[in-house]
Amino acid sequence: MVKIAPSILSADFCRLGEDIRAVSTADWLHVDVMDGMFVPNISIGVPVVQSIRKHTGMFLDTHLMVEKPGRYVKAFADAGADLLSIHLEADMPPAIHAALDEMAALGVKRGIVLRPITSAEAVLPYLKEGLDLILVMTVEPGFGGQAFMADMLPKLTAIRCYIEKYCPTCHLEVDGGINPDTAKLCVEAGADILVAGSAIYNAPDIPAAIAALRG
Ligand code: DX5
Ligand code: ZN
Repeated sequence: MVKIAPSILSADFCRLGEDIRAVSTADWLHVDVMDGMFVPNISIGVPVVQSIRKHTGMFLDTHLMVEKPGRYVKAFADAGADLLSIHLEADMPPAIHAALDEMAALGVKRGIVLRPITSAEAVLPYLKEGLDLILVMTVEPGFGGQAFMADMLPKLTAIRCYIEKYCPTCHLEVDGGINPDTAKLCVEAGADILVAGSAIYNAPDIPAAIAALRG
């Protein structure tokens, strides 16, 4: 069963509570944290996650687009994130392993993220130790509303094979340019969690947009 994770990056931050309630027919809430260093944009941080946590029971899928993300694992876990996903490109491998270990100790679910340039094989050392989620970016991280990169589909297929072999409970998520057409391609390639910002928040009927993504 595919899960839909609306990205609040496309919400109106002046009415964030209402915009979160508007997506209550979805499964997870995708929270994009950007530091202005790992990506050129700056979005939201720990205090916003704390506030969201008080107002929704939705699973908070927190995508950290920050340099050296291990610095922030405890803060986001304490703020109420259910899952933290960290970019493999954001630090050296020992530090990524250490950050994942810290997530396990804190009881938060563990994800890794790949920029478009990063190969499928890069997940193997982490997947073999157990992960809850692998996120494949289907745009360059940093901004909503970009066009889907269809050349990421073979990467999804390859990672789905690795997941079946090494950690079958791990989810495979896609993020960037997801609409009903690209969602279908991603699910066929092995994705089971679909992040969507503009395709949901720019739609005239949000529950219908969420249903359309489920296919
Ligand atoms: C981009 C973010 C995405 C973004 C997706 O760096 O990680 O989650 O909100 O937006 P859309 O669905 O509009 O491409
Ligand atoms: Zn994201």
